[in-house]
Order: sequence, then structure tokens, then C-alpha cells
Amino acid sequence: MSSANSPTTFNPQPLGWWERNMVPKIIGCCCAQPQIMKARSRVVPQADGDVLELGCGGGINLGFYDRAKVKHLTGLDPSPGLLEQTRAMMQQTGMAADIHAGIGEAMPFGDQSFDTILVTFTLCSVHDPKQVMAEMRRVLRPGGKILFLEHGAAPDVGVARAQRWIEPLWKRIGGNCHLTRPITGGYEQAGFKIAHADKGYMPKTPRPFAWVEWGEARI
Ligand SMILES: C[S@@+](CC[C@H](N)C(=O)[O-])C[C@H]1O[C@@H](n2cnc3c(N)ncnc32)[C@H](O)[C@@H]1O
Repeated sequence: MSSANSPTTFNPQPLGWWERNMVPKIIGCCCAQPQIMKARSRVVPQADGDVLELGCGGGINLGFYDRAKVKHLTGLDPSPGLLEQTRAMMQQTGMAADIHAGIGEAMPFGDQSFDTILVTFTLCSVHDPKQVMAEMRRVLRPGGKILFLEHGAAPDVGVARAQRWIEPLWKRIGGNCHLTRPITGGYEQAGFKIAHADKGYMPKTPRPFAWVEWGEARI
């Protein structure tokens, strides 16, 4: 289904006890705080047409889609535990989706398949953000958009220093979640145009985890 140059094989590695049992719980707890839910409510309803949710694990976004605008929803995520939660959320919200196990670095989709790619709190956790962005470019239709909402590298020197200290331990316990990755700047470096973007510290959140940026990138 995908172009000749794009790898599509997903060989899941056996997960350890922590990844299987604790990471889904940590993500479920951290990613559903009220201030994060508020941020989701600003971004997710902008999705329209054929939509890909990259890193759909947990299914927390399912209740925020504007169903009148979404023609078809596809989800992709490598985590069996989080995909189980996504399926439970599909039942709970009544939002239908085609769910695929796989990674953003090698998407099992044809070129130009989607009008919208929604990416929330996911590029922090992938192994190779540049390769994921190259895959997003491949599967996005001309005129399509990437809606992003991510936490990442803070602009303040002291917070950035704390992020660098905490990250090595945090990514081990938090499912490979990085604190120091650029967000909007990462899309710009990958050659995307930023249609609009916003940023700031989330309230009631420790600063190293609180810097978020959200917006829309286009080819
Ligand atoms: C912090 S959770 C966020 C989940 C969801 N996007 C949300 O907003 O609540 C990070 C997600 O990225 C997924 N993930 C990790 N590596 C990935 C990869 N290489 N490609 C796609 N998703 C990945 C994880 O399984 C997990 O579901």
C-alpha cells in the first residue's frame, strides 16, 4: 500500500513488565489532567476529512472530535496496552475508528491518504521524530494539515536545564517520553510551513513538564 521507499514492517519488541503494566497507567493519569483536556478541546475538533491520529494510544482524544467534520478516523500506535484502552474508549464514546498497531516511523498507509494528521503528546515518545515527520509528509494529501499539541523544550534557561537533568530518568519510566524536543521548531526544521501556532506553560503543572505548543503545520 505504501510507496516503494517506505518501510511498513512493524515487528513489536517484547515489552517488559514496566512497559506493559505501568506505562499505560502513567500515561492515562498524566495525559488526562484537566488543563490537558482543555488544550485538547481547542485542537482536536479542528480535524476534518480522512483523519489519522498518530499515537492514538489511550483514546483520550476520541471524545473531542467534531463528528460532523470527520469522514473517517484511522489510529496508529505501537502499544498493545494503550491500544486496548483506545478500543475501550471507542466503546465508551461511540466514536468509530480503524485502529492499527504500528509506528510512525513506518506507517502502513499509502501515499497521500489523509486530510488531517492529529498528533498530541506523541512526538515526545517516538524513536526518530525526523523519520516520523518524513512519513507524515508522505501520507498527507496536498492541502492537508497536521494538527499538533505537544509538550517539549522550554524557552527559559533554568527550566531547560531542569528538563535536561530529568529527561534521562523520565524517559526510562515514562515510555520514552523526552522533555527536550523542539515542537513548532521541529516542524519548521523538517520543512513544514506553520499556518498558526501558540505556546505557553500549562497551569498547575511542574515547569519541566508544562511547556506546550499547539498549532497547524502544512506541507
Ligand atoms: C504520552 S502518550 C500520548 C497518547 C495520546 N497521543 C494522547 O494524546 O493522550 C505517547 C503515545 O505515543 C505512542 N508512541 C510511542 N512511540 C511511537 C511511535 N514510534 N510511533 C507512534 N506512536 C508512538 C505511545 O504508544 C503512546 O500512545
